[in-house]
Amino acid sequence: TWTTGNVIEEQVAAIRAQVGTKRAICGLSGGVDSAVAAALVQKAIGDQLTCVYVDHGLMRKGETEQVEKDFVAATGVQLKVVDAQERFLSALAGVSDPETKRKIIGREFIRVFEQAQAEIVAEAGAEGEDVAFLVQGTLYPDVVESGGGTGTANIKSHHNVGGLPEDLEFELVEPLRQLFKDEVRMVGAELGLPDEIVQRQPFPGPGLGIRIVGEVSKERLDLLREADAIAREELSAAGLDREIWQCPVVLLADVRSVGVQGDGRTYGHPIVLRPVSSEDAMTADWSRLPYDVLGKISTRITNEVDDVNRVVLDITSKPPGTIEWE
Ligand code: XMP
Repeated sequence: TWTTGNVIEEQVAAIRAQVGTKRAICGLSGGVDSAVAAALVQKAIGDQLTCVYVDHGLMRKGETEQVEKDFVAATGVQLKVVDAQERFLSALAGVSDPETKRKIIGREFIRVFEQAQAEIVAEAGAEGEDVAFLVQGTLYPDVVESGGGTGTANIKSHHNVGGLPEDLEFELVEPLRQLFKDEVRMVGAELGLPDEIVQRQPFPGPGLGIRIVGEVSKERLDLLREADAIAREELSAAGLDREIWQCPVVLLADVRSVGVQGDGRTYGHPIVLRPVSSEDAMTADWSRLPYDVLGKISTRITNEVDDVNRVVLDITSKPPGTIEWE
């Protein structure tokens, strides 16, 4: 019979058999899959696992701390955090084309991750240990989508910043290959991961970088992080987290409109709310959120976030609109 306990027991045994006494690396993205995969491998081989988290500065408020503190506290995992915020900001400077932004973020991510990986391999080597395994949070639907092949490190690279190049000398450890998303969440909960990680809604690998329509800058990221935090806080407070699939909050950085606040006219940016309902993100509908919740989010964002004087609601289904704006 299928129980989370059985799955964990089976996978722990399989991971131990596969990895033996060698060492493994796992990239953490802040998402559910990599977190649960890492927690399972940690349970199986303990300190033979090192996790890497690349802080690209494009995460939402509190998310990096969630990985650095809560995840580490819950699992006891060895974590290497690479602060690459400056590097991503300079690589993105002056770029507003969406595809170019995605490519730059993906490319920089791989470079930073590979560098961290090389450092871990070198450190282990100095102690006479061999790092031979790479942990990936590949799920059953990913396996099916990619034709059922085994061992390619590249399955999600198109969609996931966590996707890695193919020419790796590592063998893959993929403890979630037989699981669906809801099962992964159950396994994560059973392993003691906090709800904020296990129940996290989808969030794109390129992060807030593709939710700023226009150039990405530190100031714009900070502004969007504040607006997004308010929207998430109010949606949670209204008990709507499970009802919506996700709610991108988008900054129209190249648009300004006239407003009035206090005794003066303002010339600020609009923030777009994009709450959607979906089964699988392939198609989606805009969520009919209660007006009072929308009103509260709007009031708070325009009051609390500098330089934002308008909040608008995206009421487009997918298709024709994608969930993200870029
Ligand atoms: P779209 O915008 O294509 O998004 O309707 C569909 C789903 O995919 C997420 N998304 C991404 N996830 N890396 C990811 O891991 C990405 O580059 C990426 N782009 C979009 C999006 O949030 C939605 O859930």
